[in-house]
Amino acid sequence: LRVGVLVSGGGTNLQAIMDAVDSGKITNAEISLVVSNNPGAYALKRAESREIPAKCISPKTFENREEFHKALLQELQKHRLDLVVLAGFLVAIPPMIVEAYPNRIINIHPSLVPSFCGVGFYGLHVHEGVLARGVKVTGATVHFVDTGTDTGPIILQKAVEVRQGDTPEVLQRRVMEEAEWKILPKAIDLIANDKVSVQNGKVCIENE
Ligand code: GRF
Repeated sequence: LRVGVLVSGGGTNLQAIMDAVDSGKITNAEISLVVSNNPGAYALKRAESREIPAKCISPKTFENREEFHKALLQELQKHRLDLVVLAGFLVAIPPMIVEAYPNRIINIHPSLVPSFCGVGFYGLHVHEGVLARGVKVTGATVHFVDTGTDTGPIILQKAVEVRQGDTPEVLQRRVMEEAEWKILPKAIDLIANDKVSVQNGKVCIENE
């Protein structure tokens, strides 16, 4: 499976995927491309140090959003990707790209969807919302991307406890370590080994 990873920030989820490929936790997949919208994303350095083609395609360098979308889609198609992984990618994926990869784009969201997700719930804002509501359990979700925001069929979820005195930063780190970095590589391995299918909007996983 040829996998492309789209990133915007530190790239700890990308690192988890690279480590899982190296350790054999992910089989039948290779990371063929990393793209960031942010030239300063440390995720690009992580890709470069592992000799993975790494590109910055920034909306700011195009006449308009449409041109940016076309350039992004072109780059994905050039690398003949079978799966696109959004790993902390903070740019909306337009319908044109979603339609080019039906149930072949996945996203990691740092909450138990459908809670604390949708427009505005990204990065620390997710964990701020969790703490403000006082929920006792949060977690992370890997889902297929459809034309909505965090609305596609759910593939995997993992719960994480909220502890007294948690700050958004401490909680974000726990959700990454205990959930994101585990379920995102796992989802890629399941897809790479044809264990995942979608039947009327619900995900079925073989041998679960
Ligand atoms: C984090 O907020 C993470 O929860 C979410 O994307 C952000 C950056 O992750 N998935 P990364 O370190 O760039 O993978």
